[in-house]
Amino acid sequence: MDKNIILDFKNVTKRFPGVTALKEASIQIRRGEIHGICGENGAGKSTLMKILSGVYPYGTYEGEIFYNGEKLKLANRSIRQARDEGIAIVYQELTLVPDMTVGENVFLGKEPTEFGIINWNKLYSDTQRILEKYQLDVQPQAIIKNLGVGKMQMVEIAKALSENAQILILDEPTSALTDAEVDKLMEILETLKQHGVTCIYITHKLDEFFRITDNITVLRDGQVVTTKPTSDVTLEGLVKYMVGRELKERFPKGNRKPGEVIFEVEGLHAEDPDSAGKEVLRGINLDLRKGEILGIAGLMGSGRTELVMTLFGEYGKVTAGKVRLENEEINISSASNAISQGLSLVPEDRKGQGLVLGQSVLKNLSLPNLRFFSNMFQIDDNAELRASTEQAQNLAIKAPNLLIPCDSLSGGNQQKVVIAKWLMSNPKILFMDDPTRGVDVGAKFEIYKLMNELAERGVSIIMISSDLEEVLGMSDRVMVMHQGHSTQTLEASEATQEKVMALATGLA
Ligand SMILES: Nc1ncnc2c1ncn2[C@@H]1O[C@H](COP(=O)(O)OP(=O)(O)OP(=O)(O)O)[C@@H](O)[C@H]1O
Ligand SMILES: [Mg+2]
Repeated sequence: MDKNIILDFKNVTKRFPGVTALKEASIQIRRGEIHGICGENGAGKSTLMKILSGVYPYGTYEGEIFYNGEKLKLANRSIRQARDEGIAIVYQELTLVPDMTVGENVFLGKEPTEFGIINWNKLYSDTQRILEKYQLDVQPQAIIKNLGVGKMQMVEIAKALSENAQILILDEPTSALTDAEVDKLMEILETLKQHGVTCIYITHKLDEFFRITDNITVLRDGQVVTTKPTSDVTLEGLVKYMVGRELKERFPKGNRKPGEVIFEVEGLHAEDPDSAGKEVLRGINLDLRKGEILGIAGLMGSGRTELVMTLFGEYGKVTAGKVRLENEEINISSASNAISQGLSLVPEDRKGQGLVLGQSVLKNLSLPNLRFFSNMFQIDDNAELRASTEQAQNLAIKAPNLLIPCDSLSGGNQQKVVIAKWLMSNPKILFMDDPTRGVDVGAKFEIYKLMNELAERGVSIIMISSDLEEVLGMSDRVMVMHQGHSTQTLEASEATQEKVMALATGLA
């Protein structure tokens, strides 16, 4: 046995009803390295990590995993056993209890006790020790809900790591982080590496592989395509391994001809509905033309999400200002009211607002759109199935059939379902809040093409994205927000990263 190999996956196969998520996958991971795993949505990345961390125990898959030279045999419900063996996993969705302290979260379910009562001093000093060891900059006594997402992620890491952690798995850790928070996470990974922790890193932001990983494995349709030293691959090469063909450009060329102004916002002010007097929108002016894609740029916390949620009637108590749709002043009181006026929203938080996870893909797609395939008395099942199937195919949603529940889809495919359902509703105005988060490069391209097609058909789109290149690449104009204000709207031709950043940070 090679002492340098800490993990050796040998022909791992995992079957679900109707899908083989992993097909004889063999990967070797070296002690102390940062190993990237990439692949399209549904390629099998998360499934492999769930096997390694005990979500799918020994006996529910075929093949073997050797860990430090020994067969890994995790028992049922064994995430804790995996952690005790030194294998830690941080999932994409945060799992912290908001009203508890950092220390309480780190030791949740494994609190140190003395004579049957929790030893708080030890809990906090142990927390402090873990935080210090890995240079995580958070206070053990801080309450979770008062922390930003970046700090919460640090707590997730501290919680996952025990003192003897050997392997840390990060499954799309950065999808909700700001650039500065990503930088900090990269530093933390370096620190972990110096402590000899082996890291497995999954992301759809391909540039991160080149910043941090030593080796990369590419999965496609559950099979290992290749494992290579990162320094031996290029970005183009990586994409080609992932999708099996070359992707020449990142953004498809549209043929849009925006028309008259169809939607206007004038001097809009709104307060946080839960705390009176706290203004979240402090003067927004914008106009949107028919068939136009208007990008909204701004730092996290600048009010972008609050703006679209308020326009959609889901949030925000409007205190001043006017909204006009086709020259008529409108008052949006609720989401259903918004939908009936022809507005749709692809929300940021797909788990919370976008999907009913236990329901089938078909029902998720068709529920908001039933009026298209029902008469007064009944639903036309065939029409429902036809329209839904067509939309699922358009977006290449990867599912054995549309009757399976949404929670058995991979993360990126769930996102496609959210988008598909709103595309089917045939809106006049479509708000999209970070529509391609967690979506692979090939599917991103498909979503961009659909946005172009919609705009060409006359749908007007307002798109928020934390990916500045995406905003610049897809928009006709870019509106930049800063601290709840709209600062300036730039024509795509004059919008550069520098100009947008200067406006977004208030330096311009
Ligand atoms: N619990 C489950 N039941 C049925 N099928 C599942 C289940 N979990 C995953 N699958 C299927 O297995 C395949 C691999 O899914 P997995 O979540 O591993 O993909 P992924 O590579 O992590 O994708 P993403 O980048 O979108 O997160 C997909 O086709 C998915 O639909
Ligand atoms: Mg996944």
